[in-house]
Amino acid sequence: MRMYDLLLKKRNGGRLTRDEIGHMVSQYTAGQIPDYQMSAMMMAIYFRGMNQEETLYLTEAMAGSGDTLDLSSIAGVKVDKHSTGGVGDKTSLALAPMVAACGVKVAKMSGRGLGHTGGTIDKLESFPGFSTEISTAQFIHNVNKTGIAIMGQTKELAPADKMLYALRDVTATVDNMSLIAASIMSKKLAAGADAIVLDVKTGSGAFMKTEADAFALAEEMVRIGNNAGRKTIAAVTDMDQPLGFAVGNTLEVKEAIETLHGRGPADFEQLCVTLGTLMLMAGGLTEDTSQAEQMIRATLKDGSALQKLAEFIESQGGDSDYVYHPDRLASAPIVIAVPAPQDGYISRITCDEIGLSSLVLGGGRITKESIIDLSVGIVLSKKPGDFVKADEPLAHIHGNDPQKVEEAKLRLLQAYAFRSDPAEPPTLIKGIVK
Ligand code: URA
Repeated sequence: MRMYDLLLKKRNGGRLTRDEIGHMVSQYTAGQIPDYQMSAMMMAIYFRGMNQEETLYLTEAMAGSGDTLDLSSIAGVKVDKHSTGGVGDKTSLALAPMVAACGVKVAKMSGRGLGHTGGTIDKLESFPGFSTEISTAQFIHNVNKTGIAIMGQTKELAPADKMLYALRDVTATVDNMSLIAASIMSKKLAAGADAIVLDVKTGSGAFMKTEADAFALAEEMVRIGNNAGRKTIAAVTDMDQPLGFAVGNTLEVKEAIETLHGRGPADFEQLCVTLGTLMLMAGGLTEDTSQAEQMIRATLKDGSALQKLAEFIESQGGDSDYVYHPDRLASAPIVIAVPAPQDGYISRITCDEIGLSSLVLGGGRITKESIIDLSVGIVLSKKPGDFVKADEPLAHIHGNDPQKVEEAKLRLLQAYAFRSDPAEPPTLIKGIVK
């Protein structure tokens, strides 16, 4: 089988077979197919698309390109969760302990972020001593004992995805639905959980800008997951404004802890309750949606989710005292208010501009090697639909460098749009795909 022939076939709009895709992925992972040919293939797929079968074959081939985790020694259903990401997305930090507190086992693989803020791993590293670099044996032990473990993605897990993602990143071929679906689901399948709950974001801060595209991606991933024998459910949710109020690593951790006390932002709590309900149902705890919702809400009232977070932090080497005293977590020395330039109802807070402000402050990574400043970021005071008077704070910037703080302030102001009559806030949960 020659890569040239596969390229010609796809370039001309043909459909690749399971054997052809399997060959291409294994040969590329083994270094037998050069980047220039694989780049051409990614671009051909970008323009010609892949049908459902091809997407499934690509996912299977990437999932099988390295190690797969065997979690069969953990009793009960193991549930994993994945978000396609966005600004202020700290969901796993609150959601995983809420679900584990109900007795469903959370076995989660997470990544570091390349972008506006860090990923779940970076955020968790706000707790001194905490590590996600744990062995598979430790991961299994922790899920069994504490009901929750989060592990960094190892080099050996779905290595084809790691190589292909790096290639797509520099060849303008990331935002293709089949390639995204195969990339995400290959990692989830290799990570071994029995059930997968996906949070597919839509809006200005998401890969999928339109709801139609987000639903199509959700449906594709749910199909792939269920086809592979994993119970898979997706929620399509809003990312047209930042999630919650806090954007920035430690600031988001503090907001997640507040949420576990039952004092979180309404949108963030609603998202955690919705995804938590789906995870309890996927975990086989109950088939009754309102019962699952009651159970998940109860963990915020009775303190069990907060206690679970503390156990989890301790089990991966962190100091759980910070869970109960989040003021001890790192904080930035400069905090300034950003005053509203006018009276009015906030009609829009563009995610990308808020994210870029956080990046300017040092809260995100520009390259894989960038070192994140965990303490910096932005805390919004108002959300779309709220009324604000001129000079009232729109947000507070937390920074370490006066020059960067000024630059972030200019960027942040560009994120806001106002109108004189009341504006409806966007709907958070757009729909569920099963
Ligand atoms: N996240 C992934 O893991 N892969 C993609 O292709 C896009 C987002």
